[in-house]
Amino acid sequence: MGINKMLADKLYQKIQIYCFSGTGNSRNVAVWLTQVAKDMNIESHIINIAQIDRLSIEPPDPESLLVFVSPVHGFNYPPIMLHFILRFPKGKNKVVLMNTRAGMLIGKFITPGINGIAFYLSALILIIKGFSIKAILPVDMPSNWISLHPGLNHQTVKYLHEKNKLKVEVFARKILSGKSHFKALIEVYDILLVPIAFGYYFIGRFLFSKTFYASKACNNCDICMKACPVKAIIKVNQRPFWTFNCESCMKCMGNCPEKAIETGHGFIIAYSLFFSLIFLVGFYNYFGLYFYRIENSLLKMLVESLLFLSLLSLWYRIIHWSMRFKIMERIIVFTSFTNYKCWGRRYKALKPD
Ligand SMILES: Cc1cc2nc3c(=O)[nH]c(=O)nc-3n(C[C@H](O)[C@H](O)[C@H](O)COP(=O)(O)O)c2cc1C
Ligand code: SF4
Ligand code: SF4
Repeated sequence: MGINKMLADKLYQKIQIYCFSGTGNSRNVAVWLTQVAKDMNIESHIINIAQIDRLSIEPPDPESLLVFVSPVHGFNYPPIMLHFILRFPKGKNKVVLMNTRAGMLIGKFITPGINGIAFYLSALILIIKGFSIKAILPVDMPSNWISLHPGLNHQTVKYLHEKNKLKVEVFARKILSGKSHFKALIEVYDILLVPIAFGYYFIGRFLFSKTFYASKACNNCDICMKACPVKAIIKVNQRPFWTFNCESCMKCMGNCPEKAIETGHGFIIAYSLFFSLIFLVGFYNYFGLYFYRIENSLLKMLVESLLFLSLLSLWYRIIHWSMRFKIMERIIVFTSFTNYKCWGRRYKALKPD
């Protein structure tokens, strides 16, 4: 499309892009948007929401097109973005919602990630605040969740990066010339994931926050602590310690220069067995009478989940403490899938170029 035609089609004077990114995929999408905006002579700004005061958010310029870009975590936007949208001042701007999801490759076919309720929930909140949604787009960038699956190889990452760049450029030209885009609504099965999305928000994310630890390769450089977007890592006994604030964005794992951060599959599996076999049996024996009187199954689940997380917190402290002993450290590292070459390729997005 010629530049003159683009200018003629130009509808917005400014775009404000609110971005959260753990490992760089969403940041790349934001940068690609600004590149197209520049071609179309539209002013654009990226606001990294991890670096601003999220308790008093400045109202946007009423003339700007607003874009929200974030990864999907547990079938929803991650809490940092969700809470940002909840606190976002009311307005009447046009809004574009984008996410980056877990893309994978089978042959030349990009398998799509899953939005869950990321778009529905944030669109609902923004509509209630007075905004109008003009377009939504999921982008299937390389999955970064190596706690759950083996890390992707470089060719796959490069392929997905290049394909998605083109996809975002086409989308950006379309929306910046005033058109709408709602193809992602075809994925109606997303709505079925409401219970899992809420389960992840209320329980799952806290469990995952307690799966990280630093092995003896850690040299206490503190890079992970400083770079964490939600300041979730603290020092306990001279070792990094992951608090429940962690959003599992994977930034620390991808950036540790010593590759010392692992996901402790072994100690989480051991904890789950311990909890279900020993603790729950004991708990039902002693408190069963009272527990069974609770009619509401949701309440029962809540009690169990709270017990699960409270004990997990204790378990994590014990593991953290016990890692001062070489033998424990070795067992824990040995039972972490991320420690193995075939699984543990750390993920960091390619530069947006
Ligand atoms: C904790 C966690 C949960 C995730 N949940 C989902 C999900 O529900 N659906 C999906 O498609 N991708 C999911 N992913 C993959 C990421 O959304 C995807 O890799 C994203 O592009 C990462 O973006 P970032 O580099 O900007 O952080 C998840 C990743 C992590 C770390
Ligand atoms: S970045 Fe790695 S080496 Fe540095 S403190 Fe964190 S875990 Fe240790
Ligand atoms: S501790 Fe690591 S995974 Fe958790 S939010 Fe911070 S950078 Fe992300």
